[in-house]
Amino acid sequence: MISNKLLLSLAPMAGISDWPMRTLCTEQGCNHTTTEMVSAIGLLTAPKDLNVYKFLLHVGSDEPAPFVQIFGRDPAILADAASYLTSLNRFSGIDINMGCPAPKVTSGGNGSALMRDLPQCERIIKAVRSATSLPLSIKMRLGWDDSSRCAVELSQIAEDSGANLLTVHGRTRVQQYSGHADWEYVSKVKQAVKIPVLINGDITDAESAREALNISGCDGIAIGRGALGNPFVFKEILSSLNGLPYEPPCLENIIETALRHSRTMIEWKGEHSAVLEMRKHLCWYIRGQRGAAAFRTRITHAASYDQIHALLMEFLENNSRPIEIPQ
Ligand SMILES: Cc1cc2nc3c(=O)[nH]c(=O)nc-3n(C[C@H](O)[C@H](O)[C@H](O)COP(=O)(O)O)c2cc1C
Repeated sequence: MISNKLLLSLAPMAGISDWPMRTLCTEQGCNHTTTEMVSAIGLLTAPKDLNVYKFLLHVGSDEPAPFVQIFGRDPAILADAASYLTSLNRFSGIDINMGCPAPKVTSGGNGSALMRDLPQCERIIKAVRSATSLPLSIKMRLGWDDSSRCAVELSQIAEDSGANLLTVHGRTRVQQYSGHADWEYVSKVKQAVKIPVLINGDITDAESAREALNISGCDGIAIGRGALGNPFVFKEILSSLNGLPYEPPCLENIIETALRHSRTMIEWKGEHSAVLEMRKHLCWYIRGQRGAAAFRTRITHAASYDQIHALLMEFLENNSRPIEIPQ
């Protein structure tokens, strides 16, 4: 079942939207999450105990069941992957990636490359639909390039083929991440279908969330980069949409969250891997603060939780002092 309340979604992000990140966002009011993308063929052919898939498919004991995102271009393989993932009984839906712009994905005809072949998209969606009883969502861009925008057509195909939810990133594949997401165009998708549509692209705070929703008329938003180091963005948006006051977290709260995030990752993946992965998150947590550039240089050498803790405490201490103005 897709909820009919406003959906505040953490967009799928490879290397980011794992269960610790999803849990932190959920605590702040995010009510729809998706795993990182998982290769359908990789999943089906890899030994079942291979760590990479165990980690990609892990769901936290306290988090609401996420959607799981798959990518591929062969309808039968995607259907088999969906059927296997459904049998795990830990996901609330299946999402098909039709939007990834990365050359290593599109070169095999996957991700956003599928938007150049709508009949193939239809075969995929129908095959996956018949392989799972879980809600099915499709994540797409506006099209391959400006001269071939086809998000409206793909959305109608998806709805007619049994999809239950759409997420539309308002850029073409050729744009990658340049320019601004075209929220007006996403409104055309919203008007063309009856199933819920999430608007995605450049939503980073309450103001952009309101504007994207107003312009597009969508049923919810999906936030990617705006949640990096900032799971609080969901609370900010939720408070604003409900007309409630919002107090942004102080640096101490941000650092507490960063440390908790680090400890959860370490318990899950072990100190070595977790610290390597956490370095990027820690830089995002303190982005925009005084001394962030110097912190970034130093955190790249952190090799243990104790070192992360010491660096963050020093950062907090330095930021609690008034700025020293040289005489
Ligand atoms: C680091 C990173 C990894 C991403 N990985 C995925 C992915 O696995 N699957 C997917 O559908 N989109 C992926 N995306 C795209 C995002 O889901 C989202 O569509 C895009 O970042 C635009 O939204 P934003 O402006 O809120 O970031 C990724 C984006 C980033 C920045």
